[in-house]
Amino acid sequence: MCYVPRTQHRYLPSRAIPTVITPVQQHTHQRTMPLRALPGPALAGGIQVSGDKSISHRALIIGGLARGRTKVTGLLEGHDVLATGAAMRAMGARIERFDSGVWSIDGTGVGALLAPDAALDFGNAGTGARLIMGLVAGHGLTASFTGDASLRKRPMGRVLTPLREIGARVVTGEGERLPLTLEGARDPIPITYRLPVPSAQVKSAILLAGLNSAGVTTVIEPEATRDHTERMLEFFGAKLEMGEESDGGRRIALIGRPDLVGRDITVPGDPSSAAFPVVAGLIVPGSRLAVERVMVNPTRAGLFDTLSEMGATIRQTNLRTLGGEPVADIEVVAGPLSGVDVPAARAPSMIDEYPVLAVAAAFAQGTSVMRGLAELRVKESDRLAAIVSGLAANGVAARIEGDDLIVEGTGGRVPGGGTVETFLDHRIAMSFLVMGLGAERPVTIDDASMIATSFPDFVDLMTGLGARLEPVS
Ligand code: S3P
Repeated sequence: MCYVPRTQHRYLPSRAIPTVITPVQQHTHQRTMPLRALPGPALAGGIQVSGDKSISHRALIIGGLARGRTKVTGLLEGHDVLATGAAMRAMGARIERFDSGVWSIDGTGVGALLAPDAALDFGNAGTGARLIMGLVAGHGLTASFTGDASLRKRPMGRVLTPLREIGARVVTGEGERLPLTLEGARDPIPITYRLPVPSAQVKSAILLAGLNSAGVTTVIEPEATRDHTERMLEFFGAKLEMGEESDGGRRIALIGRPDLVGRDITVPGDPSSAAFPVVAGLIVPGSRLAVERVMVNPTRAGLFDTLSEMGATIRQTNLRTLGGEPVADIEVVAGPLSGVDVPAARAPSMIDEYPVLAVAAAFAQGTSVMRGLAELRVKESDRLAAIVSGLAANGVAARIEGDDLIVEGTGGRVPGGGTVETFLDHRIAMSFLVMGLGAERPVTIDDASMIATSFPDFVDLMTGLGARLEPVS
């Protein structure tokens, strides 16, 4: 966890975080950016993808709450994370950018957040909105939450229900959707809550609310979801006790009112971003590439296991620890893939990777079945519907049966030639661009602008590997 700032004294005034744009404004003013991926040359080379989105959000939130200074290196500077930074700043944290990915945060201390003057705008980001609802709920302050058209459609009841048990009140907001105003509890009640859906966002919101509670807040999750909040809270000095339930679930108990103290954090590469070049390297004939220092925390690595089961040549080398998380270099060589049956129990460890797995499945020989995907309906778009219609537009048969997704593989001969509707969803956009690189004809997406929410370097990194991506006028 050693931190060596790359630029020691290039201290930017707080107004100078150039990229913190109000996301709703940004969305209103931006034009859609159609982009086309051309089938083409083999991809080759070694790249590093930007920092993990989940960890970057948490670094700003927990660092913004902790007493003293947190230094972050490798922070993802995507729109989603910058919106979280802007929200933490509006609640009293001092957040400064030194250099690309290198930030410092002076936190307020647990219990000392301020009420923001204006509505907090989270743009496209469910994680930022839901986690900060947790903070507000436990801090006796009132804040309004809003976001873009995609975020305003997403369910917030899953997080508001436990936060009401803690003592928070939703004072405006219809249908448990944004925009809404939340009034936090002055004396938050320590609750025990069993998650009805496997959601790291809901778990994290409850734990963050519990930080300012005088007792022990317990979350029981039937299936393990990403554990970055637990890891980071412990790293900053909180006491958590983990246990196993008799039904195999996990129990996480947080002792309230810890003295969180600022720390130095290095953010490892995002496995959800690495997924795109990894799948591209498997489906574009002749490719051989490596994505370096990718986080392989078991609660996030389900895609890599699934690709191995499909017969992919995929190797994890140079396994080490970075920023308290396991990381590895991921090397892939293109080759035939076979259909796979992905059990529902694996879904939490690869929940964001199904769009790109569906693309890999389209190139495979045989049928793939991905089970238990109800949660995909409430992501940045209804991803089950978006995947099936994107595949159909490019000549690949797929269907939804209950909560399962079934893709009929083409044995490597995806026709392509279609235009994909992306529904303000960055991962749908990147997945279908990857498809176009290996298809028989180009694949066009209606809008690439949302890619900047999570993976601003996507186009540069992919073209650096040899991919042909061209704007469509
Ligand atoms: C996230 C949790 C997941 C994931 C999202 C990031 C997080 O959402 O899809 O992209 O950082 O906690 P859910 O908690 O809704 O499953």
